[in-house]
Amino acid sequence: MLFSEYQYFEYQFPLPQYLGSKYLLRSWLQQFIPRDIRVVCDAFAGSQSMAFLFKQLGFKVITNDFLNFNHQIGLALIANQNNTLDKQDWESLLQANPDPSYYNLIESTYTDIFFTRDQCQVIDAIRGNIDRLGNKYKRALALAILNRSLTRKVTMGHFAHQQALNYALDPKRIKRNRSLIRPVQEIMADLLPQYNRAVFANGQENCSYNLDALELLPQLQDVDLLYLDPPYCNSHADYQSFYHLLETNSMYWKDKEFVNGNRRYSPKRYSGFDKKGEALTSLQKLFALSAAVPHWLISYNDRSYPDIQTLCEMISVHRPFRVERKEYLNSRGGRGSVAGCHEVAIIASQD
Ligand SMILES: C[S@@+](CC[C@H](N)C(=O)[O-])C[C@H]1O[C@@H](n2cnc3c(N)ncnc32)[C@H](O)[C@@H]1O
Repeated sequence: MLFSEYQYFEYQFPLPQYLGSKYLLRSWLQQFIPRDIRVVCDAFAGSQSMAFLFKQLGFKVITNDFLNFNHQIGLALIANQNNTLDKQDWESLLQANPDPSYYNLIESTYTDIFFTRDQCQVIDAIRGNIDRLGNKYKRALALAILNRSLTRKVTMGHFAHQQALNYALDPKRIKRNRSLIRPVQEIMADLLPQYNRAVFANGQENCSYNLDALELLPQLQDVDLLYLDPPYCNSHADYQSFYHLLETNSMYWKDKEFVNGNRRYSPKRYSGFDKKGEALTSLQKLFALSAAVPHWLISYNDRSYPDIQTLCEMISVHRPFRVERKEYLNSRGGRGSVAGCHEVAIIASQD
């Protein structure tokens, strides 16, 4: 293993707020990473918390998520080696909207739904200025910070819940979460140094993709470890319902329909893992396409669909495996974590 061990551990991953994030389980999962590996792929990277751990461990990291806002975090904190946002960049983000006739999507879609009109206008202006930053890594870093600030401003940290503006009128709620009433630019100013400090080079050419994992896998060569943490049905599998606004802010779509009370974009991207009717076939394809990778580390939660026995049968067709479990003592472990249920790691290596 390339563990000259903890030389990159002074860099800290900014605290994520993402359903199913493995941030709190990183050190438990770390013990199952095989020795003597060089290249790791995180095919369903979400918040990028595990991809960041792999980067800290000195591996070449190929990270991927089918949602663009997660890919932007991958560009910002995994592929990016040294592009941070300086004072001039920050000041440029706070300039007036560079083109209000184009950068008005957040105002026209979400005013008085998640944010007040004036905050929507600020978000549109910052978003427009992000597009004018010098390179794709700076743009990705600024977008990651803006999106993270938006999750701080809403209750529960996601956009399936629509009470943020009501809660912002309630002193008790504000006491619990002051971000409800803080301007987005103020939250960004707090987060910016943390994100800047998380940018580092680990001596590898890391990269971030924005593909369906089933499209990515056939393109990969020489990967030693595949980390698989797909959505499982029963456990908040439909990420687009929870984080639609972040995807809209990243893509800045002009040709989408926005539906329902929370103005989710339509149609959704195709996942293959978020509906019971498709999940088994997608998992079977996933394992078949991963056959050439010597080591698999699979995250699972035992409240999920399919059940653990079905999942293990699918894996046993391809290779031997062992199962490790960690019991949740509270509900802070992420997706579907409830006291008494288990986070599961399946370690499957070729004979
Ligand atoms: C359980 S989360 C991963 C959490 C991640 N390990 C972390 O620590 O934040 C599953 C992720 O899979 C992504 N996803 C869903 N379907 C996908 C697909 N077909 N290809 C790639 N990513 C997909 C979702 O956007 C979501 O971010």
